[in-house]
Amino acid sequence: MPTLGVNIDHIANVRQARKSIEPDPVQFAFLAEIGGANSITVHLREDRRHIQDRDVFLLKDTIKTKLNLEMAATEEMLNISKKLLPDYVTLVPEKREEVTTEGGLDVMNNEKYLRDYVKCLRDSNIKVSAFIDPVNKQINSSREIGFDFIELHTGKYADLNGQEQYEELQKIIECTYFAVDLGLVVNAGHGLNYQNVEKIAAINNMNELNIGHSIVARALAVGLEKAVREMKSIISTN
Ligand code: PXP
Repeated sequence: MPTLGVNIDHIANVRQARKSIEPDPVQFAFLAEIGGANSITVHLREDRRHIQDRDVFLLKDTIKTKLNLEMAATEEMLNISKKLLPDYVTLVPEKREEVTTEGGLDVMNNEKYLRDYVKCLRDSNIKVSAFIDPVNKQINSSREIGFDFIELHTGKYADLNGQEQYEELQKIIECTYFAVDLGLVVNAGHGLNYQNVEKIAAINNMNELNIGHSIVARALAVGLEKAVREMKSIISTN
């Protein structure tokens, strides 16, 4: 059964809507951990639209689980992560105009740049993950470059229905087996919710699911601790 990484960016979204000091994502990370989160994920975006530098450093000092820092592969983020030393870095593509991370990282066409970038992070003892679409060529390149993990993008699966969703699920399953055979650890995330997570959680060798939006939305009704507990129980029934 996979573990659960809880993405708390949306807590910071509410705070930044008022440029206020509350709600504080650092306090909510504590509640997510009480509810059973196995890691805390935050995306420090170039435009700082939600998570701030102060958040990531406080989280590093206070959380009891693992810190997964999502970031673009830029010089600025490399410097921050070398100071922060999170448990993992997940490299994601980033566009200023997007509402959330849209596609996966194009590892295949940026091998040279990413090889050096990943090496710098690994030399600092940070494990590195690539957020990629479920495509074998991207998996091969990720392995080739030296990523420790991949995170398969489940956004398309989440957006589809019926037969089309089934076919996307098969793609994710085949990619998971392909990547595990190459020696990669496989995570997945994006768009997963209380209705669609079960089939992804049931994939053999799935290591961790990263879930944000649906858990924070549910938390408005039942509180974050319970929302995380409910998601954990669905993931754990496989
Ligand atoms: N994984 C990655 C790499 C992401 O960028 C995001 C969104 O920040 C998530 C997982 C979580 O997606 P969602 O908020 O749709 O659960």
